[in-house]
Amino acid sequence: MKFKALTAVAALMLTSTVAVAGGADDDSLVINGDIEIVTKTAAPAHLDGHLDEIISGWHFRDNETQAMEMDDFDNPGMIFVDQARETWATVDGSEGKSCASCHGEPEDMAGVKAVYPKWNEGAGEVRTLVMQINDCRTTRMGADAWKYDGGDTTAMEALLASVSRGMPVNVAIDGPAAATWEKGKELYYTRTGILDLSCASCHEQNYGNYIRADHLSQGQINGFPAYRLKNAKLNGAHNRFKGCVRDTRAETYKEGSPEFIALELYVASRGNGLSVEGPSVRN
Ligand code: HEC
Ligand code: HEC
Repeated sequence: MKFKALTAVAALMLTSTVAVAGGADDDSLVINGDIEIVTKTAAPAHLDGHLDEIISGWHFRDNETQAMEMDDFDNPGMIFVDQARETWATVDGSEGKSCASCHGEPEDMAGVKAVYPKWNEGAGEVRTLVMQINDCRTTRMGADAWKYDGGDTTAMEALLASVSRGMPVNVAIDGPAAATWEKGKELYYTRTGILDLSCASCHEQNYGNYIRADHLSQGQINGFPAYRLKNAKLNGAHNRFKGCVRDTRAETYKEGSPEFIALELYVASRGNGLSVEGPSVRN
């Protein structure tokens, strides 16, 4: 791991950590004593020259926060997963259907979260899981779309993540998804805001360092949706992106915007090989 030179502004903001090797600890994450989570692995080929190893945000949190994710009874995010299980089986909309009517058990969706965002051939677009859920609600159930990254949405996304835990993130970045992926990559490396920082300034060049009181991770999304102790709810990836962009004092995009959809695909692909870990627990 090589640390690149800090920009003048970043140098003012960042203080170095006493820890070594990017500041990630050596703990291992096994959920419920059963589900082994790959939290560190070799970076995917497309990150050549950028990162050698990819690391889950879990490694950068303190021991107490880490422990909350190791048992579903201690993970506050699982309360929302239970709520989503009820929603899954509840009829809604003009067609008299529930998710279960067409999809069976939530467990039948194992593996789905790992490959999203994904190109949808029929629609001719890259779809995030939230978009797919809302498409099912509006076109298949005759129900209203849920608010992007609202409570119902993040709970359902967390349910779908929970049944894929331990499976490797494996989003496709080639073929028809390539153009969206390129757009996301460009956004990731573009410096914005008064502070003139890109996602990479913090999460690629400075992970392991502290920014104010926060231990910087690689900004991976394999653990999303994430239960944050800060706001005591599940947070979707776009919600998190928004907060990070705001921190650079830049104009931000909206949840569900084409920019954030592209950025989600790109950021997800930086985690190809890590396990699906959501719902995770973070500060
Ligand atoms: C009337 C049947 C029907 C209902 C009800 C329904 N879906 Fe779907 N769902 C589908 C079909 C058909 C597809 C494949 C759509 C496509 O590829 O465009 C799909 C696809 C999906 C996928 C993507 C699967 C994959 O492998 O990519 C997810 C996730 C999903 N639905 C979630 C839900 C959720 C959550 C609900 C309830 C809120 C729901 N669906 C309700 C028919 C339904
Ligand atoms: C000024 C530095 C800074 C910039 C720039 C920044 N972030 Fe962050 N980000 C943080 C901090 C601090 C946290 C909380 C600690 C952590 O997990 O790194 C965080 C957390 C995250 C997380 C949560 C990781 C987890 O495991 O829960 C994601 C995802 C993320 N950032 C993505 C992004 C993306 C995408 C961009 C560019 C649009 C971005 N960040 C720009 C500072 C930054």
